[in-house]
Amino acid sequence: MTFPKSKPRILTGDRPTGPLHLGHYVGTLANRVRLQSDYDCFFIIADLHTLTTAPTKDRTSTISLRARGLVLDYLSVGIDPSRCVIYQQSQVPQVAYLSLIFSMLVSVPRCQRVPTLKEVMHDLNIEKPSLGLLTYPVLQAADILMVKANLVPVGKDQESHIEVTREIADTFNKLYGEVFPVPEALIGHIPSLVGTDGQAKMSKSVGNCIYLSDDEATVNQKVKDMYTDPNRIRATDPGKVEGNPVFIYHDAFNDNKAEIADLKDRYLHGRVGDVEVKDKLALAINKFLTPIRDRRARYQNQPALIEDIISSGSVTAASVAQKTLNEVLAAMGIS
Ligand code: TRP
Repeated sequence: MTFPKSKPRILTGDRPTGPLHLGHYVGTLANRVRLQSDYDCFFIIADLHTLTTAPTKDRTSTISLRARGLVLDYLSVGIDPSRCVIYQQSQVPQVAYLSLIFSMLVSVPRCQRVPTLKEVMHDLNIEKPSLGLLTYPVLQAADILMVKANLVPVGKDQESHIEVTREIADTFNKLYGEVFPVPEALIGHIPSLVGTDGQAKMSKSVGNCIYLSDDEATVNQKVKDMYTDPNRIRATDPGKVEGNPVFIYHDAFNDNKAEIADLKDRYLHGRVGDVEVKDKLALAINKFLTPIRDRRARYQNQPALIEDIISSGSVTAASVAQKTLNEVLAAMGIS
């Protein structure tokens, strides 16, 4: 990659909390892969963000391991490490400095209004959020603006954070002069993928995910156990297609559109059993995952390469960050 900026920039990424799943794929990974030649791409392994909820030693000491797993997920979906910068947030200390400056530009009530705060507190049973959890979106804004990203491909759940980023960029520019682009969020074609259990969202904590790293037998079993139309008892009962997870997945991952149309038609008229619909879905998902599995197998045996991707990516990100930080301080008149 050439620096300074040669193309518009993308920054996005994930907290290293566990393996990525199909929901991540349709929400953001597909966009990353698709856009990687049109943009200079930065993919962040946001390990500092994981400290916002459970900063216990058993969690912090396994961050590196999970970070490497995340890189393997990235490479397996086709993110090309020779074109993109993949880096670890904690290896770019400039982001903490920028985050501190940004924290002066956002009010406490504004952070309290970010909907994910309440959601996380509810989901994880957190009574009193740490300051770090409250300012989670401020650190995320620093990630994004540190590289002056123009576009942020994310799942729907992250939209409110990008809004905070936009406000911070705008506030900074108004106070000190134009330093930052005001970035746009880019949400995937399926903004939020339903879980295998029919719940609104695929989520690791609920255990309703199909992972990109699942093997064929695991996918078969998960699809077999999937939630469908609960009111349909026999194969001859007319079924509901709309909002039915099995058909949502067919639409998302089965490239045989004629087969889907036929299955939907027969399902609506009570002329197909769940077994056939699910068997065909499992086949389609396994077909979709085959190239992903092949790439994973190739990279899995190259731990040194993964180390190198993270360390050289972090050096590049830190140099871009330092340059932005220098500009920020100069714009503020601090020297
Ligand atoms: N908050 C994001 C998530 O949980 C991860 C993240 C951290 C991120 N920094 C980012 C995403 C910057 C996009 C841009 O998924």
